[in-house]
Amino acid sequence: MAETVKLIYGNKEYELPVVEGSEGEKAIDISQLRATTGLITLDPGYANTGSCTSSITFMDGEKGILRYRGIPVEELAEKATFKETVYLLINGKLPHREELTRFSVLLNDNSLVHEDMRAFYENFPRSSHPMGILSSMVNALRSFYPELQNLDEEINMTVTRLLSKIRTLAAMSYKISRGHKVVYPRPDLAYCANFLNMMFDSPVRPYALDNDVVNALRVFWILHADHEQNCSTSAVRLVGSARVNLYAAISAGIAALWGPLHGGANQAVIEMLNDIAQNKNMGQAIERAKDRKDPFRLMGFGHRVYKTYDPRARIMKKMCDSLLDKLDLTDPLLDIAKELEMVALKDDYFIEHNLYPNVDFYSGIVLRAIGIPTNMFTVLFAIGRLPGWIAQWKESLDDPNWKLGRPRQIYTGPTQSKFIPIDDR
Ligand code: ACO
Repeated sequence: MAETVKLIYGNKEYELPVVEGSEGEKAIDISQLRATTGLITLDPGYANTGSCTSSITFMDGEKGILRYRGIPVEELAEKATFKETVYLLINGKLPHREELTRFSVLLNDNSLVHEDMRAFYENFPRSSHPMGILSSMVNALRSFYPELQNLDEEINMTVTRLLSKIRTLAAMSYKISRGHKVVYPRPDLAYCANFLNMMFDSPVRPYALDNDVVNALRVFWILHADHEQNCSTSAVRLVGSARVNLYAAISAGIAALWGPLHGGANQAVIEMLNDIAQNKNMGQAIERAKDRKDPFRLMGFGHRVYKTYDPRARIMKKMCDSLLDKLDLTDPLLDIAKELEMVALKDDYFIEHNLYPNVDFYSGIVLRAIGIPTNMFTVLFAIGRLPGWIAQWKESLDDPNWKLGRPRQIYTGPTQSKFIPIDDR
């Protein structure tokens, strides 16, 4: 028999259905709560609120599990290409060889960006943050690629264009910000290698692709490809629920990801580690992070869902060590990061608050090692997260229980008051 929950309110008793997911997580279905009881729920930050059912990504924050369409992220990071992971997230299954070839051809055919878009880049102030530029450029794509009449074709084309052009847009923004010549995508290069070549190739210094560097980017992107209903994904779903076009919904996701409490943390971690390196103030940073009156937090620590070690951080840390080793690089920030982690994990405050390194703690060091400038870190995260955003948007589009996203509130302002003319105030 289906489980229910009893709610007693006033002198009435209500029975609310319990919904169970395929991994045994349970939720009280409150969709009829207001209609039957007149009550709403209050849940700041939505920490106890499921906004949808989803078959894309499963995570268990207590056990440190992350799976895309059932496949552990560890396995994908070891065996899959980024393109296969993208296909898996968006289409719900791993591609056969012919499907993957067709997908690669489509990505290649759509990789160029309209030349007129270059003018936009040239007019952003040089100091603009690349995340603001990327969000604007992705939104601008709609003007260059107007809506197609056939809905299926429109969706497929928009998805392909976004997945392919986002790399070109990101690399263009880097090149133009440096006053360098834009490098076009190459048909002979795979997804990750193509991006690195667009970023770093130059007429005077041809870029030599390194397999370890390409592999590091592949793993980085796979680890970031989806993370269920996080802040930016919820932004994509919420904005998308107004039935806005996908470019606009993704642009909103990029804006949300920019925040230092979310994707912007990878940049903030490096800034924090640099500060510790320069001022030799690790002890002070830990004490400040523990002080409730101080807004300072250890960047790259803590997670809304993971209350144990983030499984992505484990892979990233290993990758970081092996990459620096293979490239014969040393990075003093890696030593500081490891020491900081060791000190924090032994500290009662971090133990009691279940604060462990998250994916961003080591990812910045990996990105530095492959030559990505710090202000582009979150852009790299956005490229990786794009397939997840798209998959979630598509799922919401096909959801028979879809509704316009519109939370309620409990009003706490003044009750009805009179307007007082300006001379009488
Ligand atoms: N440093 C110090 N204290 C922390 C930290 C941290 N990094 N994170 C959480 N806490 C403390 C809070 O001060 C709070 O303490 P209190 O209960 O004594 O007041 C407690 O832990 C709970 O904090 P919340 O903010 O309520 O927890 P939430 O689950 O909302 O936080 C968040 C998640 C925002 C990620 C937080 O851990 C944080 O700010 N981390 C630093 C930024 C960061 O690394 N973000 C990347 C997240 S991963 C991603 O988005 C890709």
